[in-house]
Amino acid sequence: MLTQRVSPLANTAIIVLAAGRGERFGQKKQFMQISGKSMLWWSLETIAKLESVAQTILVLPQTDHSDAARLIGTHTVSDIVVGGSERTDSVRSALAVLSDDIEVVLVHDAARPLASPELFSSVIEGAKTAGSALPCVEVADTIKEIEGDRVVATLDRARLRAAQTPQGFSRDLLVAAYGSALAGGIIGTDDASLVEAMDVDVTVIPGERDNIKVTSPRDAQMVELIMDLRKGLS
Ligand code: CTP
Ligand code: MG
Repeated sequence: MLTQRVSPLANTAIIVLAAGRGERFGQKKQFMQISGKSMLWWSLETIAKLESVAQTILVLPQTDHSDAARLIGTHTVSDIVVGGSERTDSVRSALAVLSDDIEVVLVHDAARPLASPELFSSVIEGAKTAGSALPCVEVADTIKEIEGDRVVATLDRARLRAAQTPQGFSRDLLVAAYGSALAGGIIGTDDASLVEAMDVDVTVIPGERDNIKVTSPRDAQMVELIMDLRKGLS
């Protein structure tokens, strides 16, 4: 039986994934400058504001490992590990260095520099109480299923959600999901999908509209605009 509920005092680790190739963006987007800092830096800045994170694990590409000090700037992380060719491989590299006392694990994409400290905190709380916490937002567009240029179905928007990171899980659940995915040859695009593949329920919590994922250069411009807007409000 998987341990899903953990103590409110359980130690938490956060994995920051920055080992992608940025193929759709045209460069390793996680290192590009946004509002004067690397995209990756903004996630570390948010994590630094959280109380009681016992371990922060940064995952970098092999080729950028020696440049880590420059990339993280003034921030400190507990561990820096080298990622793999798929996102799942990169998460696995981080799971391999989890400290023994960690009971809750969050996985966050460095490509989402706008996730707020409040979102991280609610994911941590949700993972402690329910064993999993998946931040999601409603979808505004009507989503079609297509084959080539032909629509085969219109999905019921009320039942659809867009999943974000950070995603949080009890350590036992996440480690089991990654073990089972390896055995089954499953490569998911997020962590929750690997838990779902084990037929374990994943608990949805509210995500944040601003927490967009940078995929193309246009998205990076949007992030900068939102940051400027936030500066104007503070
Ligand atoms: N990531 C990773 N290791 C990989 C692939 C992705 O650590 N092998 C990270 C990325 O750095 C990013 C996050 O996972 O922070 C989400 O991935 P995605 O947005 O797909 O980024 P890339 O894989 O870099 O982009 P692309 O798919 O266009 O190559
Ligand atoms: Mg990718």
